[in-house]
Amino acid sequence: MIRIAVFVSGSGTNLQSLIDSCKTGFIPGNIVLVISSNPGAYALRRAEKNGIETAVVVRKDFGDKENFSAAILEILKGKDINLICLAGFLQQLGGNIIREYERRIINIHPALLPDFGGRGMYGMRVHEAVIKSKAEYSGCTVHYVDEEYDHGPVIMQKRVAVEENDTPETLAEKVLKEEHKLYPEAVRKFALGQIGLSGGAAEKG
Ligand code: GRF
Repeated sequence: MIRIAVFVSGSGTNLQSLIDSCKTGFIPGNIVLVISSNPGAYALRRAEKNGIETAVVVRKDFGDKENFSAAILEILKGKDINLICLAGFLQQLGGNIIREYERRIINIHPALLPDFGGRGMYGMRVHEAVIKSKAEYSGCTVHYVDEEYDHGPVIMQKRVAVEENDTPETLAEKVLKEEHKLYPEAVRKFALGQIGLSGGAAEKG
């Protein structure tokens, strides 16, 4: 059973899918800690409702991302965390935490990376850009986290067709639904040792 920490900033629907998948045993692991960069995140309530320890670390309380990440490292200390899942976590992590947890930090992004990723590409902005580009497909990507935004090796992706009448909102809804399946699958594979250090790039559907 792996020990998982989930980092959040918002509503936490992906956190919920990971919690549910641990409960059913689909993920052979336990979420032992949820860290939020936002004290008002609904994700914190989800964690509390499930008896999961929480912590809040606010970026602006720290000078730079290394100090911010050092505070997070302090919280992780002694907790024997095997995997950190970023799930709607809106802060960039410093090199210190990325080095200490090398290839043990993963993220989910609501598009098919390397397209529609990078600084400023989050939330509805991603789906607006996809619609504007007239891309035939969007989807979601689980990838390892490195020091650049949305950049580390791809672990799994799931494609979603963009229909002519899709709006950013309808596309977001379709992609999020797939995220809730893809993230638990990727975490399960990680727990079972089925993902290489350079990613997996397994295309789902
Ligand atoms: C998801 O779309 C995820 O891909 C992105 O942030 C959003 C988080 O949503 N990184 P939620 O907080 O899990 O509901």
